Amino acid sequence: MLILGIETSCDETSVAIVKNGRILSNIISSQIDLHSVYGGVVPEIASRQHLKLVDQVILQACQKAEITFKEIDVVAVTRGPGLPSSLLVGVSVARGLALRLDKPLIPIHHMEAHLYTPKIDPPFVALVVSGGHTLLVHVLDFGEHRILGQTLDDAAGEAFDKAAKLIGLGYPGGPAIELKAKEGNPRAYPFPRPMLDSLDWNFSFSGLKTAFRRTLSSLNTKLHNEDHPKQSPLSYLTVQQVADLCASFQAAVVEVLVEKSVRAAKRFQVHQIAVSGGVCCNEFLRQQFDRRCREEGFSLSLADRNLCTDNAGMIALLAERKFEKGVTASSCWDIEPDWILK
Ligand code: KG4
Ligand code: ZN
Repeated sequence: MLILGIETSCDETSVAIVKNGRILSNIISSQIDLHSVYGGVVPEIASRQHLKLVDQVILQACQKAEITFKEIDVVAVTRGPGLPSSLLVGVSVARGLALRLDKPLIPIHHMEAHLYTPKIDPPFVALVVSGGHTLLVHVLDFGEHRILGQTLDDAAGEAFDKAAKLIGLGYPGGPAIELKAKEGNPRAYPFPRPMLDSLDWNFSFSGLKTAFRRTLSSLNTKLHNEDHPKQSPLSYLTVQQVADLCASFQAAVVEVLVEKSVRAAKRFQVHQIAVSGGVCCNEFLRQQFDRRCREEGFSLSLADRNLCTDNAGMIALLAERKFEKGVTASSCWDIEPDWILK
């Protein structure tokens, strides 16, 4: 069975072909360069770029997988959550394609696709850390999961992005902070570990962002003047200070994510942890999960690096599993920009 998946929920135009659980092609056209000058994703630019590129990306995915349209059995697409105008492009194209090919169209929840990206059989505790969401989930069986906790404010990736913006590094912030942190001391600045000791499974990163901002201001020894009301911290921090700040910030975020996941696995007596989403690209996070899971005797499944950030491979893979389980879509459905994973 051949599945063609389309993902356009944010700023990646991606199309993948999946056959029997194997990704034959997974083309990702990233728009990062278009948005980085604005310090974040501009929705209208994103949707226009999807519109410009989506047909070429579909053709490239088919070419790379060496298949023709006629061989496609199922079309899958991200229905939400995401930017409305971006979702509309992918869903419209997918619907047209399914109609033309007379094949089923399966709508996919973007976060559910991230959740099932690691190659692991349930039961497991899953941490999904992306730019828009932070979810801790107890997966009992495929398609049968319980959301234990989520972020009460900023998502983990969003926290990286905002901290990077505060210090004057570009968008997306996660990779920029990780790069600077490589030369830094993670214990240089004792940032708080928010919600680490709370009794529930939720997260909160906005307080950490405030602590980061305060520390930046306290290190500004240059006097403000009218000509330079807003100095970039990069203009007054030393290279080592930037590295130490990034390393300390990264260590605070990662410690909370790792420890809460480990604690949840212990509490629910599950000995497997899966991690996915854009922030799972972070090498420090991967190492810390690896270290703690070894200590606890848990097995760990990290999403493949090329499947961590947004891609259509994860959409097509989940659609295939759903289709095999007999899940098909109703004939009349709309995008769901605020779709909550239940
Ligand atoms: O899953 P994703 O591609 O998109 C969403 O569904 O949101 O995640 C993007 C997020 C961004 O916030 C980005 O800063 C973060 O993942 N990210 C990272 C790294 N690479 C991407 N965060 C920390 N370290 C990284 N290396
Ligand atoms: Zn995502």
